[in-house]
Amino acid sequence: MLKTKFTINLTFLVILISGCQREENYITNSSIGLFSYSSYPIGTAIDINELESNAIYKSISLKEFNSITPENIFKAEALQPKPLTFNWTEADSLVSFFLTYNKRIHGHTLIWHNQLPQWIIDYQGSPYEWEQLMKVHIQTIVKHFKNKVTAWDVVNEAFNEDGTLRNTIWKQKIGVGYIEKAFLFANEANPNALLFYNDYNLESNPIKRNSVLSLLKNLRNRGVKVDGIGVQMHVSTYYPEPTQIAIAFQEIIADKFKIHLSELDISVNPLGKNIILSESLFNEQANLLGSIVLNYNQIPKQYQYGITFWGISDKNSWIRSFYNREDYPLLYDDNYMPKPCYYKIFKVL
Ligand code: G3I
Repeated sequence: MLKTKFTINLTFLVILISGCQREENYITNSSIGLFSYSSYPIGTAIDINELESNAIYKSISLKEFNSITPENIFKAEALQPKPLTFNWTEADSLVSFFLTYNKRIHGHTLIWHNQLPQWIIDYQGSPYEWEQLMKVHIQTIVKHFKNKVTAWDVVNEAFNEDGTLRNTIWKQKIGVGYIEKAFLFANEANPNALLFYNDYNLESNPIKRNSVLSLLKNLRNRGVKVDGIGVQMHVSTYYPEPTQIAIAFQEIIADKFKIHLSELDISVNPLGKNIILSESLFNEQANLLGSIVLNYNQIPKQYQYGITFWGISDKNSWIRSFYNREDYPLLYDDNYMPKPCYYKIFKVL
């Protein structure tokens, strides 16, 4: 009798201690990373220059994340800087490094209007020749990384905020059908790869989201393979509300597309003001991240492709250089110390 009581109490104590210790372990930099606590992949964008020069960055990328999106080196200017001259050196080195550690590689991005090499911008050709250019670009890259890259952002940011198609160079030269063709070419090159459409403000702008969903449903109804949507999630502590985000997720899964939170960061200073750093500012950021993750947890497993943060440390976030403003949008501070949002995601996963 006494023995039983003791066993029960001991079990209770072990549970209690292990609960407390979970966070404690984490804080004391054990080998347990965020992704180990998640039922879906947790990823980050990787900057090759940081990876090659910063040991802390490299070790965080390996410890915390199991999905990797190259931030810039898969873009057209990097992979095909000259016509039919593909530069694989950096991309191959990044891919083989992370595959050694069994990380998933997410390919970003095949067709976009930014970060194009000058020769594409200057290219003179008929619509057919442009289509061939696009086909060769997509298929050479997708075939090169066959069995290495799990999924591709086939087309990136093709819509305006009012729901119309953006007048990109691809639309101008090939016509509105370029998106469909891009997906067909990618699928032809690797039928096993998952194919995504990726864009920003899909979590907050229902007009843009509905246009994207209509186009993708239309493609799918005509037999074009589209597996999911990259909801970039460049959000802020001001906007949007978690309820808006939840509605967006529900609408996308109602149309049976996987969701990749593909470029998550949370600005704390979207208006570019002089800000005073405080605990409450970072707690607010952490609470929003908590709500986003909890909402993502609610969607059925088959639609959870994963959550990818757009970088590791605030220091290297694109937001500071792009908007030239003070901001702190990521999980780690400038000294690679975890922030409240880091601990929050760990708690809600
Ligand atoms: O490649 C040059 C390099 O030669 C030069 O030495 C260096 C000097 O500043 O600049 C390098 O180019 C930079 C490039 O990143 C590669 O590092 C550009 O200046 C810089 O503007 C560029 O920014 C990237 C941006 O896309 C370009 O549009 C960001 O790092 C990257 O995070 C950002 O990512 C995009 C996603 O792909 C799509 N969704 C939006 C997201 C944020 O803008």
